Amino acid sequence: MNARILDGRSLGRTIRTQIRADVEELTRNAAVVPGLAVILIGEDAASRVYVTNKIKACADVGIRSTLIEYPNDVPAEALIDAIKHLNQDPAMHGILVQLPLPPHHDVRAVLHAISIEKDVDGFHLYNVGGLVVGDMIFSPCTPFGVMKILDHAGIPVEGKNVTIVGASNIVGKPMALMMMQRDATVAVCHEKTRDLAQYTILADILIVAAGVPNLILPQMVRTGAVVIDVGINRLPDGRLVGDVDFDGVCRRASCITPVPGGVGPMTVTMLLANTVSAARRFVDRTRGPILEPKRLEGAAPLT
Ligand code: GUN
Repeated sequence: MNARILDGRSLGRTIRTQIRADVEELTRNAAVVPGLAVILIGEDAASRVYVTNKIKACADVGIRSTLIEYPNDVPAEALIDAIKHLNQDPAMHGILVQLPLPPHHDVRAVLHAISIEKDVDGFHLYNVGGLVVGDMIFSPCTPFGVMKILDHAGIPVEGKNVTIVGASNIVGKPMALMMMQRDATVAVCHEKTRDLAQYTILADILIVAAGVPNLILPQMVRTGAVVIDVGINRLPDGRLVGDVDFDGVCRRASCITPVPGGVGPMTVTMLLANTVSAARRFVDRTRGPILEPKRLEGAAPLT
């Protein structure tokens, strides 16, 4: 079997065309340009690349963005004060704090300082709790992007065995909740899981977000499975690879996302969708629903 490639770059481009039109509509009809504030703390090289991509993507669809940078040792109070200020800024509809934070920062305190109406990453406790019952304002961008890839490819989720490798707050846990919301049977594996292959081999849909190159080998994958590789790893020779042995697993899987060009572009796309959704909510909240109540492509609730 040679797997069908699930092209996140192309899907992202299609969704961004719709987002660009939505931004134009908001600007024309409500005189509101969606705005995103991005906060970057410290000198993590990978975080800088991700943040640069997000800022560029905003410009590409007409979202106004601002990058606020702090040194590693920025005092916690200064950071929280900056977030509180952004919470009050009517020109900024979304606030994103790039993770991971330098280790001495209290991630929870920082994330929970963000207004739930501006929490376009979906990391505030309110949105995390909302995921449990399928009633959040914003969905975390990476799992949201994975759902869009599956839906666009016509891959049903209901009743499927879904194995998720990696139990992070950013990807693995929200991914599991979204899959449960869609009536999948979910297993979540992590560093302490004994005999990983025992779980991966059961998966109709295998989602890997572990940050370990070549963690998933062909013999760990059921023939015909759908494989979603969320990993982004830079090898010593400079190559960018996922967590899955792509060439080997291609011969067993029915569908697979590549790295790069799979989940990554969709994460950024869903951030744009959430930001436009936040701006639309701002308009509705402050002026009443003067716009046509129209759902953004890419921002539908995951029910
Ligand atoms: N670090 C890795 N992924 C993400 C993400 O989706 N949002 C933020 N804020 N930080 C990240």
